[in-house]
Amino acid sequence: MGKLDNRVAFVTGAGRGIGAATALRLAEDGARVVLADIDTSGCQQVIADIERAGSQGLAVQCNVADKAGVEAAVQQAVDHFGRLDILVNNAGVTRDNLLFKMADDDWETVINVHLRGAFLCSRAAQAHMVKQQYGRIISLSSTSALGNRGQANYSTAKAGLQGLTRTLAIELGPFGITANAVAPGFIDTEMTRATARRLGFDPQERIAAASKTIPVRRVGQPRDVANVICFLASEESSYVSGQIICQGCISKMEGKFKSVKDYLYKSGNDPHPGDGWLLTRDGDFLRDTVPGHGIVDFVQCLRLLQKSGYDGYYSFEFGGQEPWEQGVLRAVANVERYAKMAQTE
Ligand SMILES: NC(=O)c1ccc[n+]([C@@H]2O[C@H](COP(=O)([O-])OP(=O)(O)OC[C@H]3O[C@@H](n4cnc5c(N)ncnc54)[C@H](O)[C@@H]3O)[C@@H](O)[C@H]2O)c1
Repeated sequence: MGKLDNRVAFVTGAGRGIGAATALRLAEDGARVVLADIDTSGCQQVIADIERAGSQGLAVQCNVADKAGVEAAVQQAVDHFGRLDILVNNAGVTRDNLLFKMADDDWETVINVHLRGAFLCSRAAQAHMVKQQYGRIISLSSTSALGNRGQANYSTAKAGLQGLTRTLAIELGPFGITANAVAPGFIDTEMTRATARRLGFDPQERIAAASKTIPVRRVGQPRDVANVICFLASEESSYVSGQIICQGCISKMEGKFKSVKDYLYKSGNDPHPGDGWLLTRDGDFLRDTVPGHGIVDFVQCLRLLQKSGYDGYYSFEFGGQEPWEQGVLRAVANVERYAKMAQTE
């Protein structure tokens, strides 16, 4: 007997990554699973794994941002398996860019897939769940909901999903339906590997660097997220609703850094070469990182800036092809310039 026997789950973006791991994990506990994905090429492999685990899967081609497509897919799920108990709003994309370079389409695509997609799927699914007086809705938020450089669209969508989750919990609770979200940090999937490659990094190196910033000293695997989702999808979680469960949060930075790039890496700030980078108010992280430059001067400059009442972050732009070290030197020159201005005021 599995704890999800007789339950039917609808998992969006189930063709790979966290969605695929979740579909399989739910099936291992007995659920029959509908795998809804815009690209169903990966779904057959997942269904084969589900069948080996003794359950059943159904692949449905569906763009979660498309209202008619979502409604048809949910209806197809109910027609095929006879009910719908669990919805996992997992489908997602990234279109990272700094705000000043973010195209309308980058914004709309990300907001539509994550936020509109979760809204459409939840609305279509709740109609069946309310009738049954039972349901579980689990959405994929992210630690990026707190704000992440280069991700105005993604952070906004992931924060929006937290508001949606809490609201669904309030509205649907009286009908036996819970709504929760998981907010993972770094999970090793094609999404994070593609980000590393786009930024010019070896994914394996990035994983090793990120591991050092995470309290349990490793990045997450899709199965780590699937395990939490599986609990939230079960009857055991019936008194848990409106909650956001964070996974693998970043710990306080420790140690010294070999270079600015190293710092950015380890601090979770994705460097976008050619775009610029941020220095926190605490300049200490640059200790030992600017060859040939009086780091004491640099820290003093920052202190002067702080004394001058300047509040917030210092942002310095790199030129298109400017090497990191050259950019650092220019940043230092800027700080010195600001510090002089602060001194004379
Ligand atoms: N990987 C991470 O580090 C991480 C961290 C936090 C949150 N998340 C979130 O978890 C979810 C899954 O991420 P992943 O890393 O497995 O991503 P992934 O890119 O490996 O998989 C995403 C899946 O969603 C599907 N998809 C994309 N657009 C779709 C659409 N319009 N309609 C239907 N399906 C669509 C893709 O085809 C793919 O199968 C996403 O919502 C992501 O934002 C991921």
